[in-house]
Amino acid sequence: MTDEFVDRSLEEVRFWSRIMKEHSLFLKLGFNCDDTKLINEADRFYNIFEDIENRALAFTSDTDPQQIYDFNQVVSNAVSHIWAFKRHVLGLIIQCKILGNNFPLLVDHVSREAAYFRKRLKQLNTGTLDPLPDAVINENVFFLRIMADHAKFINHLLDPSERKLVEQARDFSHDFDQLLFQAQDLDSMRPQSQTQPLLDQFVDQNRVSVRQLRDFKKTAHDLIEACRIKSIIPPLLADHVFREASHFLEILDSFEIALTSSK
Ligand SMILES: [Fe+2]
Ligand SMILES: [Fe+2]
Repeated sequence: MTDEFVDRSLEEVRFWSRIMKEHSLFLKLGFNCDDTKLINEADRFYNIFEDIENRALAFTSDTDPQQIYDFNQVVSNAVSHIWAFKRHVLGLIIQCKILGNNFPLLVDHVSREAAYFRKRLKQLNTGTLDPLPDAVINENVFFLRIMADHAKFINHLLDPSERKLVEQARDFSHDFDQLLFQAQDLDSMRPQSQTQPLLDQFVDQNRVSVRQLRDFKKTAHDLIEACRIKSIIPPLLADHVFREASHFLEILDSFEIALTSSK
């Protein structure tokens, strides 16, 4: 275990623990006010991930790698629990056992993000991060779907009278569905598809669209915060999806650098 292990672990845990904390809040806001057990459970997860986030922020690059290894285990355990909670909630909604404002796709989406976080922690602790050509495809297949979902959520949570913005969100949804299909095609053509020119082009093309979507989310966030548009999107949710797009863009930028330097 090296310093890089510590830095990468802290980077992942700081980013995703805040995301998990906010998911707890979004789920809570979407529950019916009579579902107090679920609301309390969501509150409990909020506190757990707030605590994890604070601990991750307190560690530094100089922290003993063994301590980070143990911390990652604790975090992974908490992530497994919130994942199970999200899947449980999904079941309740789909079987019409609870009413509320959480879309099933949103609950599935946040559970996929938890599963991703848990997988990342496992890879860090076992030293089995994907080699570059696999990482390029795997990360894109995961995040392009996340981005396509975000566009769909924005589309459905904007007031229908915001016709121009709704139209833009729908266009992004379509654009990212297409990019996702392309990524899945490249995935099924593995390993033959993992040539330098194809991966280069794949990353370049996705970066252009993710940058546009990130800017759209930023604009939406600013408009919502300034109360200039009609929607039922909390400003924190707009910021949350903006941060996830920025995170994906950082991953794409790092792929671009790695692919260029391996030429
Ligand atoms: Fe999220
Ligand atoms: Fe998301």
